[in-house]
Amino acid sequence: MVDFGVGILGTGKYLPDKILTNGDLEKMVDTSDEWIVRRTGMKKRHLLDDNTPSYMMGAEAARLAIEDASLTPMDIDLIIVSTETPDYLTPSMSCLIQKDINAENAAAFDVNAACTGFVYALTIARQFIQTGYYNHILIVANEGLSRIVDWESRNTCVLFGDAAGAVVLGKVDKEYGIRESYLASFGNLGHNLTIPCCYISEEDRQKRGAGKERVIWQDGSEVFTFAVRSMAECVKTVVEKANITIEDVDLIIPHQANLRIINGAAKRLGVEDDKISVILQETGNISSASVPVALDMENKKGRLKKGDTVVLVAFGGGLTCGSILLTWGK
Ligand code: UT7
Repeated sequence: MVDFGVGILGTGKYLPDKILTNGDLEKMVDTSDEWIVRRTGMKKRHLLDDNTPSYMMGAEAARLAIEDASLTPMDIDLIIVSTETPDYLTPSMSCLIQKDINAENAAAFDVNAACTGFVYALTIARQFIQTGYYNHILIVANEGLSRIVDWESRNTCVLFGDAAGAVVLGKVDKEYGIRESYLASFGNLGHNLTIPCCYISEEDRQKRGAGKERVIWQDGSEVFTFAVRSMAECVKTVVEKANITIEDVDLIIPHQANLRIINGAAKRLGVEDDKISVILQETGNISSASVPVALDMENKKGRLKKGDTVVLVAFGGGLTCGSILLTWGK
C-alpha cells in the first residue's frame, strides 16, 4: 500500500504564432465562417511554419511544465510523448525533445493512441511512479496536424491545428493526484479515422485523392456518434470507480474536436456548461494536445483550486477513448 499520491506538479503549452482564421479558410476551400462556427464552434487555429520541426513545440511546452514544477530537466527520469504526427519514426519525438531540453537522465519513448494519447500516457506514467520505479515523469502531447491535412478538402482542413501541451508527474500528498483512470480501444472501428504511414490499403487509397496517400481521412458522422457516447461513458466510468457522483466533479477537461460533441456528452451526463473547459474556438482540434493545453490554460488562469475534482476525457483514432479522475493538488 503506497502512502503517497501521484499528481501533476507542473503544466506547460506551446501554440505557434501563425493563426489561420475561418475567414482565411473561406479563401482556400468552399466553406464559410458561419458553417464552421455553427457545425464545430471553431474560429481559429495555430499553424507551424513549414520549416519548423514539430518537436520544437513539445520542447517549449516541456520547459514551461518543468519550470512550473520547480524542477530542472536533469530531474526528469522518463519522457513519454503522445503523438500521431511524429517528425520521424525514429528518433522518436521523446528522444528529439530529450536532446532539445537536455534531460540527460531520462529514458524516452512515444505513445500513439491518437487523440486519446495523453490520457494513455498519463495512465502509463502513473504506474511507474506508484511502483517507485521513477520519481519525475515528463509527459508531452505534441501534434502537428497541419502536416497531414488535405488542404483542398473542406471536410477536414477546417478542423485541425498545431500545438503541444506538457505536464510533469510526481509524488504528492496521498489525498491528491490521480484517483482513477479508464482506457478502452475499439480496433474494429479503426477504419473510420485513418492516417496511412509506411503502407496503405487499396480501400484507404480510394478514399483519398491521387497523390494524397498520407493525409488524414475520417467518416465524420461515425466518429461523431462514437465520440458523444464514449466521452459520456468514460466520464461515468471513472466517477463510479471513484465512488462519487457527477455533482462532485468541479471541472471536466474534454478532447476538443467539436463543440457539438462536447455539448452532446455534457447533456448525457447532466453537467452544466460552466463545469466544462472549452478552448477549441482558439485552437481547433489539436488531437492529443487538446487536454493538456486546456489543462495548462485552466491552471495558469487560476481556475483550478487545490482539492478540486477534475476529469480528463478523450476519444480518437484507433478508435480509442479514456478518462482520468484526479484531485488537483497544486
Ligand atoms: O479528433 C478527431 C476525431 N474526429 C472528430 O471528432 C470528428 C467528428 N465529426 C464531426 O465533428 C463532424 O461530423 C464534422 C465537423 C466533421 C462534419 O459536420 P457534420 O455536421 O457532421 O457535417 P456532414 O459531414 O454531415 O456534412 C453536412 C454538409 C455536407 O453537404 P451536403 O452533402 O449535405 O450537401 C458537407 O459536404 O456540410 C458539408 N460540409 C461543409 N460545408 C461547408 C462539410 N464540410 C464543410 C465545410 N464547409 N467545411
